[in-house]
Amino acid sequence: MATSFAESGADLELVGITKRFPGFTAIEHLDLTIPAGSFFALLGPSGCGKTTTLRLIAGLEDPTAGRILIGGKDVTDTKSYRRPVNTVFQSYALFPHMTILDNVSFGLKRRGIANATQLAHEALRLVELDHVAQRRPSQLSGGQQQRVALARAVVNRPALLLLDEPLGALDLKLRRQMQIELKQIQGDVGLTFLHVTHDQEEAMTMADTIAVMNKGEIEQMGAPEELYELPKTAFVANFLGQSNLFTGPVVSSKGDTLVVDIAGRKIEVPRNRAQRHAGDVTIGVRPEKVALVTTEPKAAGLNVVGPGRVVDVSFSGVSTQYQVQVPGLGVLTVFSQNLAFGPIVNLGAEVWLTWTVDHGFGLEDDPATAPRFEPDEDTSQIATQRRERLESELEEA
Ligand SMILES: Nc1ncnc2c1ncn2[C@@H]1O[C@H](COP(=O)(O)OP(=O)(O)OP(=O)(O)O)[C@@H](O)[C@H]1O
Ligand SMILES: [Mg+2]
Repeated sequence: MATSFAESGADLELVGITKRFPGFTAIEHLDLTIPAGSFFALLGPSGCGKTTTLRLIAGLEDPTAGRILIGGKDVTDTKSYRRPVNTVFQSYALFPHMTILDNVSFGLKRRGIANATQLAHEALRLVELDHVAQRRPSQLSGGQQQRVALARAVVNRPALLLLDEPLGALDLKLRRQMQIELKQIQGDVGLTFLHVTHDQEEAMTMADTIAVMNKGEIEQMGAPEELYELPKTAFVANFLGQSNLFTGPVVSSKGDTLVVDIAGRKIEVPRNRAQRHAGDVTIGVRPEKVALVTTEPKAAGLNVVGPGRVVDVSFSGVSTQYQVQVPGLGVLTVFSQNLAFGPIVNLGAEVWLTWTVDHGFGLEDDPATAPRFEPDEDTSQIATQRRERLESELEEA
Protein backbone atom coordinates (compact mmCIF):
# COMPACT_ATOMS: atom_id res chain seq x y z
CA MET A 1 0.00 0.00 0.00
CA ALA A 2 1.24 3.48 -0.83
CA THR A 3 2.51 5.29 2.19
CA SER A 4 3.78 8.42 0.46
CA PHE A 5 1.55 10.68 2.52
CA ALA A 6 1.96 8.79 5.75
CA GLU A 7 2.79 10.76 8.81
CA SER A 8 4.92 8.89 11.27
CA GLY A 9 3.35 7.56 14.44
CA ALA A 10 3.35 9.87 17.42
CA ASP A 11 3.76 9.47 21.15
CA LEU A 12 0.58 9.96 23.08
CA GLU A 13 0.69 11.30 26.61
CA LEU A 14 -2.18 11.72 29.02
CA VAL A 15 -1.17 13.69 32.08
CA GLY A 16 -3.44 13.72 35.12
CA ILE A 17 -6.64 13.38 33.12
CA THR A 18 -9.89 13.57 35.04
CA LYS A 19 -13.30 13.53 33.40
CA ARG A 20 -16.40 14.34 35.37
CA PHE A 21 -19.86 14.20 33.87
CA PRO A 22 -22.65 15.83 35.86
CA GLY A 23 -22.93 13.65 38.95
CA PHE A 24 -20.46 11.02 37.77
CA THR A 25 -16.68 10.75 37.57
CA ALA A 26 -15.79 8.56 34.60
CA ILE A 27 -11.98 8.98 34.82
CA GLU A 28 -9.93 9.83 37.85
CA HIS A 29 -6.42 11.20 37.43
CA LEU A 30 -5.25 9.05 34.54
CA ASP A 31 -1.56 9.13 33.54
CA LEU A 32 -0.64 7.21 30.43
CA THR A 33 2.19 7.29 27.90
CA ILE A 34 1.92 5.37 24.65
CA PRO A 35 5.19 5.41 22.69
CA ALA A 36 5.13 6.16 18.95
CA GLY A 37 4.63 3.10 16.78
CA SER A 38 3.13 0.90 19.45
CA PHE A 39 0.01 -1.18 19.30
CA PHE A 40 -1.59 -0.42 22.60
CA ALA A 41 -4.75 -2.08 23.91
CA LEU A 42 -7.03 -0.59 26.52
CA LEU A 43 -8.91 -3.48 28.05
CA GLY A 44 -11.68 -3.37 30.61
CA PRO A 45 -15.28 -4.17 31.45
CA SER A 46 -18.25 -2.24 30.15
CA GLY A 47 -18.52 1.24 31.62
CA CYS A 48 -14.92 1.46 32.89
CA GLY A 49 -14.20 4.56 30.78
CA LYS A 50 -12.60 3.26 27.58
CA THR A 51 -14.71 5.18 25.08
CA THR A 52 -14.53 8.28 27.25
CA THR A 53 -10.71 8.07 27.14
CA LEU A 54 -10.75 7.84 23.33
CA ARG A 55 -13.22 10.72 23.01
CA LEU A 56 -10.92 12.88 25.15
CA ILE A 57 -7.92 12.05 22.96
CA ALA A 58 -9.90 12.70 19.79
CA GLY A 59 -11.04 16.06 21.18
CA LEU A 60 -14.74 15.17 21.28
CA GLU A 61 -14.84 15.77 25.03
CA ASP A 62 -12.92 18.24 27.15
CA PRO A 63 -11.12 16.89 30.20
CA THR A 64 -12.17 18.34 33.56
CA ALA A 65 -8.47 18.42 34.45
CA GLY A 66 -5.19 17.32 32.88
CA ARG A 67 -3.33 17.67 29.57
CA ILE A 68 -3.17 15.64 26.37
CA LEU A 69 0.02 15.62 24.28
CA ILE A 70 0.45 14.09 20.84
CA GLY A 71 3.98 13.90 19.49
CA GLY A 72 5.12 16.15 22.34
CA LYS A 73 2.65 18.87 21.38
CA ASP A 74 -0.05 19.91 23.83
CA VAL A 75 -3.38 19.46 22.01
CA THR A 76 -5.67 19.82 25.01
CA ASP A 77 -7.15 23.01 23.56
CA THR A 78 -6.84 22.00 19.91
CA LYS A 79 -10.06 21.47 17.97
CA SER A 80 -10.81 17.85 17.20
CA TYR A 81 -10.41 18.16 13.40
CA ARG A 82 -6.96 19.71 13.83
CA ARG A 83 -5.57 16.76 15.82
CA PRO A 84 -3.51 14.15 13.91
CA VAL A 85 -5.99 11.52 15.02
CA ASN A 86 -8.54 9.31 13.30
CA THR A 87 -11.13 7.26 15.13
CA VAL A 88 -13.09 4.16 14.29
CA PHE A 89 -16.02 4.44 16.66
CA GLN A 90 -17.89 1.74 18.47
CA SER A 91 -20.93 2.89 16.47
CA TYR A 92 -19.39 3.54 13.06
CA ALA A 93 -21.16 6.32 11.20
CA LEU A 94 -20.89 6.22 7.41
CA PHE A 95 -22.43 8.91 5.21
CA PRO A 96 -25.66 7.23 4.06
CA HIS A 97 -26.08 9.22 0.83
CA MET A 98 -22.54 8.50 -0.46
CA THR A 99 -21.17 5.38 -2.11
CA ILE A 100 -18.74 3.22 -0.19
CA LEU A 101 -15.89 4.50 -2.36
CA ASP A 102 -16.83 8.13 -1.68
CA ASN A 103 -17.09 7.41 2.01
CA VAL A 104 -13.53 6.13 2.04
CA SER A 105 -12.02 8.79 -0.22
CA PHE A 106 -13.89 11.69 1.42
CA GLY A 107 -11.17 12.70 3.89
CA LEU A 108 -8.41 12.41 1.29
CA LYS A 109 -10.27 14.54 -1.25
CA ARG A 110 -10.93 17.19 1.38
CA ARG A 111 -7.20 17.31 2.01
CA GLY A 112 -6.57 17.66 -1.72
CA ILE A 113 -4.72 14.33 -2.13
CA ALA A 114 -4.33 13.74 -5.89
CA ASN A 115 -4.73 9.95 -6.06
CA ALA A 116 -7.55 9.79 -3.50
CA THR A 117 -9.70 7.38 -5.51
CA GLN A 118 -6.83 4.97 -6.10
CA LEU A 119 -5.88 5.00 -2.41
CA ALA A 120 -9.52 4.44 -1.43
CA HIS A 121 -9.66 1.38 -3.71
CA GLU A 122 -6.49 0.05 -2.10
CA ALA A 123 -7.94 0.50 1.37
CA LEU A 124 -11.14 -1.24 0.31
CA ARG A 125 -9.16 -4.14 -1.13
CA LEU A 126 -7.45 -4.43 2.23
CA VAL A 127 -10.78 -5.04 3.95
CA GLU A 128 -11.97 -7.16 0.99
CA LEU A 129 -14.79 -4.86 0.01
CA ASP A 130 -13.61 -3.28 -3.23
CA HIS A 131 -16.31 -5.19 -5.11
CA VAL A 132 -19.03 -3.18 -3.33
CA ALA A 133 -17.33 0.20 -3.84
CA GLN A 134 -20.34 1.59 -5.73
CA ARG A 135 -22.98 0.53 -3.21
CA ARG A 136 -24.38 2.67 -0.41
CA PRO A 137 -23.96 1.83 3.31
CA SER A 138 -27.59 0.67 3.68
CA GLN A 139 -26.85 -2.05 1.12
CA LEU A 140 -24.13 -3.61 3.30
CA SER A 141 -24.33 -5.81 6.38
CA GLY A 142 -23.31 -4.44 9.79
CA GLY A 143 -19.96 -6.23 9.67
CA GLN A 144 -19.26 -4.93 6.16
CA GLN A 145 -20.06 -1.38 7.26
CA GLN A 146 -17.62 -1.81 10.12
CA ARG A 147 -14.89 -2.82 7.67
CA VAL A 148 -15.66 0.26 5.55
CA ALA A 149 -15.28 2.42 8.66
CA LEU A 150 -11.90 0.79 9.22
CA ALA A 151 -10.81 1.43 5.61
CA ARG A 152 -11.95 5.04 5.91
CA ALA A 153 -9.80 5.59 9.00
CA VAL A 154 -6.71 3.72 7.82
CA VAL A 155 -6.64 5.44 4.43
CA ASN A 156 -5.88 8.77 6.10
CA ARG A 157 -2.70 7.40 7.71
CA PRO A 158 -3.24 9.39 10.91
CA ALA A 159 -0.30 9.62 13.32
CA LEU A 160 -2.59 8.15 15.92
CA LEU A 161 -5.41 5.77 15.13
CA LEU A 162 -8.04 5.23 17.79
CA LEU A 163 -10.03 2.04 17.43
CA ASP A 164 -13.09 1.59 19.63
CA GLU A 165 -14.17 -2.05 19.41
CA PRO A 166 -13.63 -1.89 15.63
CA LEU A 167 -14.21 -5.60 15.10
CA GLY A 168 -17.26 -5.97 17.34
CA ALA A 169 -19.76 -6.72 14.57
CA LEU A 170 -17.63 -9.30 12.74
CA ASP A 171 -17.99 -13.06 12.99
CA LEU A 172 -15.17 -14.97 14.64
CA LYS A 173 -13.36 -16.00 11.45
CA LEU A 174 -13.42 -12.53 9.90
CA ARG A 175 -12.51 -11.06 13.27
CA ARG A 176 -9.36 -13.21 13.45
CA GLN A 177 -8.49 -12.30 9.87
CA MET A 178 -8.98 -8.58 10.52
CA GLN A 179 -6.91 -8.81 13.70
CA ILE A 180 -3.99 -10.11 11.67
CA GLU A 181 -4.48 -7.51 8.94
CA LEU A 182 -4.80 -4.63 11.36
CA LYS A 183 -1.59 -5.67 13.04
CA GLN A 184 0.08 -5.92 9.65
CA ILE A 185 -1.11 -2.46 8.61
CA GLN A 186 0.18 -1.07 11.87
CA GLY A 187 3.55 -2.76 11.43
CA ASP A 188 3.85 -1.67 7.79
CA VAL A 189 3.20 1.99 8.34
CA GLY A 190 4.50 2.37 11.88
CA LEU A 191 1.49 4.31 13.13
CA THR A 192 0.48 4.40 16.78
CA PHE A 193 -2.67 2.37 17.39
CA LEU A 194 -4.80 2.68 20.47
CA HIS A 195 -7.22 -0.20 20.42
CA VAL A 196 -10.13 -0.46 22.83
CA THR A 197 -11.68 -3.79 23.48
CA HIS A 198 -13.28 -5.86 26.19
CA ASP A 199 -12.14 -9.05 24.45
CA GLN A 200 -9.09 -10.19 26.40
CA GLU A 201 -7.97 -12.65 23.75
CA GLU A 202 -8.07 -9.96 21.09
CA ALA A 203 -6.02 -7.65 23.29
CA MET A 204 -3.44 -10.35 23.96
CA THR A 205 -3.01 -11.44 20.34
CA MET A 206 -2.80 -7.94 18.89
CA ALA A 207 -1.20 -5.57 21.33
CA ASP A 208 2.42 -5.13 22.38
CA THR A 209 1.22 -3.37 25.53
CA ILE A 210 -2.05 -3.83 27.39
CA ALA A 211 -3.50 -1.55 30.03
CA VAL A 212 -6.25 -3.12 32.11
CA MET A 213 -8.73 -0.46 33.10
CA ASN A 214 -11.14 -0.73 36.01
CA LYS A 215 -13.57 1.99 37.07
CA GLY A 216 -11.73 4.80 35.34
CA GLU A 217 -8.28 3.78 36.57
CA ILE A 218 -5.49 1.67 35.09
CA GLU A 219 -4.90 -1.32 37.36
CA GLN A 220 -1.94 -2.79 35.56
CA MET A 221 -0.07 -2.22 32.34
CA GLY A 222 2.54 -4.26 30.52
CA ALA A 223 3.28 -6.81 27.79
CA PRO A 224 0.52 -9.43 27.38
CA GLU A 225 2.68 -12.28 28.78
CA GLU A 226 3.72 -10.20 31.75
CA LEU A 227 0.15 -9.29 32.65
CA TYR A 228 -1.04 -12.83 32.23
CA GLU A 229 1.77 -14.57 34.08
CA LEU A 230 2.14 -12.05 36.87
CA PRO A 231 -1.17 -10.31 37.59
CA LYS A 232 -0.92 -7.89 40.49
CA THR A 233 -4.54 -7.60 41.50
CA ALA A 234 -7.49 -9.97 41.77
CA PHE A 235 -9.27 -7.88 39.16
CA VAL A 236 -6.50 -8.40 36.59
CA ALA A 237 -6.07 -12.06 37.59
CA ASN A 238 -9.72 -12.71 36.84
CA PHE A 239 -10.37 -10.31 33.99
CA LEU A 240 -7.43 -11.47 31.91
CA GLY A 241 -8.01 -15.21 31.91
CA GLN A 242 -9.01 -17.20 34.99
CA SER A 243 -7.20 -17.74 38.28
CA ASN A 244 -7.40 -19.87 41.39
CA LEU A 245 -6.96 -17.50 44.32
CA PHE A 246 -6.39 -18.33 48.00
CA THR A 247 -6.08 -16.07 51.01
CA GLY A 248 -4.13 -16.77 54.17
CA PRO A 249 -1.38 -15.47 56.47
CA VAL A 250 2.32 -15.57 55.62
CA VAL A 251 3.71 -17.93 58.28
CA SER A 252 7.36 -18.10 57.38
CA SER A 253 9.92 -17.30 54.81
CA LYS A 254 12.17 -19.96 53.32
CA GLY A 255 15.01 -18.64 51.19
CA ASP A 256 13.42 -17.19 48.09
CA THR A 257 9.91 -18.32 48.91
CA LEU A 258 7.14 -17.22 51.24
CA VAL A 259 5.13 -19.87 53.04
CA VAL A 260 1.42 -19.12 53.29
CA ASP A 261 -1.02 -21.05 55.43
CA ILE A 262 -4.04 -21.89 53.29
CA ALA A 263 -6.68 -23.73 55.32
CA GLY A 264 -4.00 -25.68 57.17
CA ARG A 265 -1.86 -26.41 54.10
CA LYS A 266 1.53 -24.77 53.63
CA ILE A 267 1.63 -23.21 50.17
CA GLU A 268 4.80 -21.60 48.86
CA VAL A 269 5.07 -18.67 46.50
CA PRO A 270 8.27 -17.13 45.11
CA ARG A 271 9.12 -13.96 47.01
CA ASN A 272 9.90 -12.08 43.80
CA ARG A 273 6.49 -12.98 42.35
CA ALA A 274 4.61 -11.74 45.41
CA GLN A 275 3.60 -8.11 45.92
CA ARG A 276 3.04 -8.43 49.69
CA HIS A 277 5.40 -10.29 51.99
CA ALA A 278 3.68 -10.26 55.38
CA GLY A 279 0.30 -10.56 57.04
CA ASP A 280 -2.71 -11.86 55.17
CA VAL A 281 -2.05 -12.23 51.47
CA THR A 282 -3.91 -13.49 48.42
CA ILE A 283 -1.94 -15.85 46.23
CA GLY A 284 -2.94 -17.56 43.01
CA VAL A 285 -2.14 -19.92 40.20
CA ARG A 286 -3.51 -20.18 36.65
CA PRO A 287 -5.72 -23.24 35.94
CA GLU A 288 -3.45 -24.58 33.17
CA LYS A 289 -0.47 -24.65 35.54
CA VAL A 290 -2.26 -27.05 37.88
CA ALA A 291 -2.06 -30.84 37.50
CA LEU A 292 -4.54 -33.40 38.82
CA VAL A 293 -3.21 -36.58 40.42
CA THR A 294 -4.96 -39.46 42.16
CA THR A 295 -2.32 -40.13 44.82
CA GLU A 296 -0.80 -37.48 47.05
CA PRO A 297 2.52 -36.42 45.52
CA LYS A 298 5.56 -35.71 47.68
CA ALA A 299 8.27 -33.77 45.90
CA ALA A 300 10.29 -30.67 46.63
CA GLY A 301 9.29 -27.55 44.74
CA LEU A 302 5.66 -28.62 44.41
CA ASN A 303 2.59 -27.19 46.07
CA VAL A 304 -0.13 -29.67 46.85
CA VAL A 305 -3.74 -29.13 47.90
CA GLY A 306 -6.35 -31.79 48.51
CA PRO A 307 -7.75 -34.27 48.56
CA GLY A 308 -10.71 -32.80 46.76
CA ARG A 309 -13.56 -34.16 44.71
CA VAL A 310 -14.11 -33.58 40.99
CA VAL A 311 -17.51 -31.87 40.74
CA ASP A 312 -17.53 -31.01 37.05
CA VAL A 313 -15.75 -32.22 33.92
CA SER A 314 -16.21 -30.35 30.65
CA PHE A 315 -14.52 -31.59 27.53
CA SER A 316 -13.73 -28.94 24.90
CA GLY A 317 -11.64 -30.82 22.34
CA VAL A 318 -8.10 -29.58 22.91
CA SER A 319 -8.50 -29.49 26.67
CA THR A 320 -10.73 -30.52 29.52
CA GLN A 321 -11.80 -28.21 32.31
CA TYR A 322 -12.19 -29.78 35.74
CA GLN A 323 -13.84 -28.21 38.77
CA VAL A 324 -12.56 -29.62 42.02
CA GLN A 325 -14.17 -29.00 45.39
CA VAL A 326 -11.49 -28.84 48.08
CA PRO A 327 -12.70 -28.63 51.70
CA GLY A 328 -11.71 -25.28 53.19
CA LEU A 329 -10.69 -23.82 49.81
CA GLY A 330 -13.80 -23.91 47.67
CA VAL A 331 -13.93 -24.88 44.02
CA LEU A 332 -10.69 -24.79 42.00
CA THR A 333 -10.41 -24.89 38.23
CA VAL A 334 -7.91 -26.99 36.28
CA PHE A 335 -7.34 -26.92 32.51
CA SER A 336 -5.74 -30.03 31.23
CA GLN A 337 -4.57 -30.58 27.68
CA ASN A 338 -6.07 -33.74 26.17
CA LEU A 339 -2.86 -35.67 25.58
CA ALA A 340 -4.80 -38.95 25.63
CA PHE A 341 -8.37 -39.74 24.57
CA GLY A 342 -10.98 -38.42 27.00
CA PRO A 343 -10.73 -37.08 30.55
CA ILE A 344 -7.98 -38.26 32.88
CA VAL A 345 -10.30 -38.44 35.90
CA ASN A 346 -14.05 -38.75 36.14
CA LEU A 347 -16.76 -36.94 38.00
CA GLY A 348 -16.64 -37.79 41.70
CA ALA A 349 -12.99 -38.88 41.66
CA GLU A 350 -10.76 -38.07 44.63
CA VAL A 351 -7.80 -35.98 43.49
CA TRP A 352 -4.92 -33.80 44.64
CA LEU A 353 -4.00 -30.61 42.83
CA THR A 354 -0.37 -29.73 42.41
CA TRP A 355 1.71 -27.02 40.79
CA THR A 356 5.31 -25.91 40.65
CA VAL A 357 6.07 -23.31 43.32
CA ASP A 358 7.61 -21.06 40.64
CA HIS A 359 4.24 -20.78 38.86
CA GLY A 360 2.36 -19.12 41.71
CA PHE A 361 1.90 -15.38 42.18
CA GLY A 362 0.99 -13.10 45.08
CA LEU A 363 -1.35 -10.12 44.73
CA GLU A 364 -0.97 -6.61 46.06
CA ASP A 365 -4.63 -6.44 47.19
CA ASP A 366 -5.07 -6.20 50.93
CA PRO A 367 -7.40 -9.12 51.69
CA ALA A 368 -8.78 -7.17 54.66
CA THR A 369 -10.14 -4.38 52.50
CA ALA A 370 -10.25 -5.64 48.91
CA PRO A 371 -13.11 -7.86 47.86
CA ARG A 372 -11.75 -11.17 46.63
CA PHE A 373 -13.60 -11.01 43.36
CA GLU A 374 -14.45 -7.83 41.54
CA PRO A 375 -17.70 -8.39 39.72
CA ASP A 376 -17.81 -7.44 36.04
CA GLU A 377 -20.37 -4.73 36.67
CA ASP A 378 -22.45 -3.02 34.13
CA THR A 379 -22.50 0.73 33.92
CA SER A 380 -25.44 1.35 36.23
CA GLN A 381 -23.88 -0.66 39.04
CA ILE A 382 -20.63 1.25 38.73
CA ALA A 383 -22.50 4.54 38.80
CA THR A 384 -24.37 3.43 41.93
CA GLN A 385 -21.17 2.28 43.64
CA ARG A 386 -19.42 5.51 42.82
CA ARG A 387 -22.30 7.51 44.17
CA GLU A 388 -22.40 5.44 47.34
CA ARG A 389 -18.66 5.89 47.82
CA LEU A 390 -18.97 9.65 47.28
CA GLU A 391 -21.85 9.84 49.73
CA SER A 392 -19.93 7.94 52.38
CA GLU A 393 -16.89 10.17 51.82
CA LEU A 394 -19.09 13.23 52.23
CA GLU A 395 -20.53 11.81 55.45
CA GLU A 396 -17.04 11.15 56.80
CA ALA A 397 -15.85 14.66 55.96
N1 LIG B 1 -22.12 12.11 28.55
C1 LIG B 1 -22.11 11.38 29.66
N2 LIG B 1 -22.76 11.78 30.78
C2 LIG B 1 -22.73 11.06 31.92
N3 LIG B 1 -22.07 9.90 32.06
C3 LIG B 1 -21.41 9.44 31.00
C4 LIG B 1 -21.40 10.13 29.74
N4 LIG B 1 -20.64 9.43 28.87
C5 LIG B 1 -20.23 8.33 29.55
N5 LIG B 1 -20.67 8.34 30.81
C6 LIG B 1 -20.41 7.36 31.86
O1 LIG B 1 -19.01 7.18 31.99
C7 LIG B 1 -18.69 5.81 32.21
C8 LIG B 1 -17.69 5.34 31.20
O2 LIG B 1 -18.34 5.28 29.95
P1 LIG B 1 -17.57 4.75 28.66
O3 LIG B 1 -18.47 4.95 27.49
O4 LIG B 1 -16.25 5.38 28.60
O5 LIG B 1 -17.43 3.20 28.97
P2 LIG B 1 -16.71 2.05 28.14
O6 LIG B 1 -15.56 1.59 28.95
O7 LIG B 1 -16.45 2.53 26.76
O8 LIG B 1 -17.84 0.91 28.13
P3 LIG B 1 -18.30 -0.10 26.95
O9 LIG B 1 -17.36 -1.26 27.00
O10 LIG B 1 -19.69 -0.51 27.42
O11 LIG B 1 -18.32 0.63 25.66
C9 LIG B 1 -20.02 5.07 32.16
O12 LIG B 1 -20.44 4.80 33.48
C10 LIG B 1 -20.94 6.00 31.45
O13 LIG B 1 -22.27 5.83 31.87
MG1 LIG C 1 -17.22 2.01 24.89
